[in-house]
Amino acid sequence: MRSHVVGCGSYLPSQVVTNHDLAKRMDTSDEWIRTRTGIRERRIVAEGEKTSDLAFEASNAALKDAGISGNDIDLVICATTTPDETFPSVATMIQARIGMTHGAAFDVQAVCSGFIYALAVADNFIRTGQARTVLVVGADAMSKLMDWNDRTTSVLFGDGAGALVLNAGEGNGTNADRGVLNTKLFSDGRLHDMLYVDGGPSTTGTTGHLRMLGKAVFHHAVTNIAAAIEASAAEAGVSIYDIDWFVPHQANQRILDGTARKLHIPPGKVVSTVALHGNTSAASVPLALATAVADGRIKPGQLVLLEAMGGGLTWGATLLRW
Ligand code: UT7
Repeated sequence: MRSHVVGCGSYLPSQVVTNHDLAKRMDTSDEWIRTRTGIRERRIVAEGEKTSDLAFEASNAALKDAGISGNDIDLVICATTTPDETFPSVATMIQARIGMTHGAAFDVQAVCSGFIYALAVADNFIRTGQARTVLVVGADAMSKLMDWNDRTTSVLFGDGAGALVLNAGEGNGTNADRGVLNTKLFSDGRLHDMLYVDGGPSTTGTTGHLRMLGKAVFHHAVTNIAAAIEASAAEAGVSIYDIDWFVPHQANQRILDGTARKLHIPPGKVVSTVALHGNTSAASVPLALATAVADGRIKPGQLVLLEAMGGGLTWGATLLRW
């Protein structure tokens, strides 16, 4: 059994914040942000707009793309680090809003790697026959975790959501099959201090702010992501050169370029949307994917590699045939 992608959608909040806007509020510049990260602007939620609102819009777009209704879904998995409330999960909020009255819904928390983790869980539910049609969502309002006095982190992140609908379909077990071919997940909990939030329900009782050792994370990102891509390709028995599109976590253009260089991937095969929304954490892979599907770059039958790395540290890759 394979997990076929049958729908894809995304959503960005309407409020645009450019680098020039940030330069009016803190000691930074458009030049610094663009040359160090590739980011030009990001979207920030409006007053009262919540992660579940972003997730719902992206889910609706994916359902529409799949041509099905909410009640055709039997499992919702949402990757998020910024839930509306500590509980219940954003996934159950999505479930209610898409009009799904059966099945199950839960969140997965792996920060920027969340979408890859959620896809892995969904794929396993489908392969074992426990679900047939799964809505996988990545949604984050990272602006809520920013210390707006810290220029080293607050210029990097933005808000958004993306979603895929997966459907069980039969394959013959080879890498010529459509759908998810494999998912490789990794983490190293010893690296907590590189990227974390300094608050939470059982510590400060507050939401807290994101803290990051940028340079150290940068170094790990290129090394770990390259290793995850190689592991995924090797397990599927394909050469990295056979992969048509690389859809990376959109954290920093320099990380995308560095990974592509390390693996000799032509830059033209790398989908990059970081300039337009910054690092949207769990939303970034499906946002980039939805862009490349909508503009016709990714076509049925092509091999697509998704990858991400984030707090934990966590990282991983998914190889799928569109
Ligand atoms: O989703 C996964 C998690 N995150 C990431 O993947 C991010 C990984 N890290 C990075 O992307 C990069 O390390 C950053 C973009 C965060 C930083 O780039 P960098 O080239 O590593 O710069 P740096 O931290 O070495 O800072 C260089 C200088 C420093 O000044 P001094 O000490 O050289 O005088 C910083 O204080 O740039 C300064 N700086 C800034 N200047 C203007 C730091 N932030 C800013 C800023 N505007 N926003």
